[in-house]
Amino acid sequence: MAFPGTGKIWMNGSLVDWADAKIHIASHVIHYASGVFEGARCYDTARGPACFRLDAHLRRLLDSARIYRMDVLYDQQTLTDAVIDLIQINSFRACYIRPLIYRGYDSLGVHAAACPVDVAILLWEWPAYFTKEAIEEGIDVKISTWARNAPNTTPAMAKSVANYANAQLIKMEAVADGYAEGIALDTYGNLSEGSGQNIFIVRDGIINTPPIGNSVLSGITRDCVIALARDLGFEVREQTLPRETLYLADEVFFVGTAVEVTPIRSVDRITVGSGRRGPITEAVQQRFFQIVRGEAADTHGWLQYVNMPAATGTGASRRR
Ligand SMILES: Cc1ncc(COP(=O)(O)O)c(C=O)c1O
Repeated sequence: MAFPGTGKIWMNGSLVDWADAKIHIASHVIHYASGVFEGARCYDTARGPACFRLDAHLRRLLDSARIYRMDVLYDQQTLTDAVIDLIQINSFRACYIRPLIYRGYDSLGVHAAACPVDVAILLWEWPAYFTKEAIEEGIDVKISTWARNAPNTTPAMAKSVANYANAQLIKMEAVADGYAEGIALDTYGNLSEGSGQNIFIVRDGIINTPPIGNSVLSGITRDCVIALARDLGFEVREQTLPRETLYLADEVFFVGTAVEVTPIRSVDRITVGSGRRGPITEAVQQRFFQIVRGEAADTHGWLQYVNMPAATGTGASRRR
């Protein structure tokens, strides 16, 4: 899907037309992947647009910048206000939210001391990552021949653009081999995560997921799913999992902002459980969708509603 190419983008505190939101080819980020970013969602609910865990996403954004020694001129509240303003100005009911902090234009030494640390936020309507059928039936995945980044190389806890070179290799290989997605092991051969998703495995009614020490992004959906599964009465364990746990699982599912909660029906052409979405996956998935769509009580306080300007144009007010 191509971008429609309309609307406003927030760049260093200014609102810029989509077509004019450009940076110079000599910008540091283009050459050395010196950028960190986020992907969050705003959902369409009966009470209006609602950002899902925007606070956690912006905190992780600033944490990622800190790991990369980037001095960001904007604090979390300023970035939050910018996102809310953009949703109002662009009149989105639902959208994907992409803040990006990057080293900009000055010089091209690897040590970017003189380059500005620039910030941009863009929004767009992103259709479902996988089809509706996939959400109900599950997807076919393979273990990637590419490992996740080793510990103490490019850090997994930073959502850096650099990490997505690895993610692209995993995803491209999987698609080229006829799968919907790839699962990466860490460099010790233990289960890590998908190209852009965390993973959960169910066996004998217990839900397992790799801990953050296995080169996984500390996913916000992962955190939600652990909380929701426990709310539903399931036992959840964060533990190192060998590859073969995938082949012995009753259920496997991916989670992430893009894929939400997506069942996996086969790994390396070995059928998972009954070959379709399992009951625990379905229960967690249903709960997740009820919460993000505002259809169930938001007991964890994860939704931030956005008041849209009245149609009569008397100005915008915000509910936070
Ligand atoms: C590598 C990777 N792992 C996991 C996730 C899921 O994280 P979240 O739920 O915070 O979107 C993502 C998506 O951002 C990702 O890119």
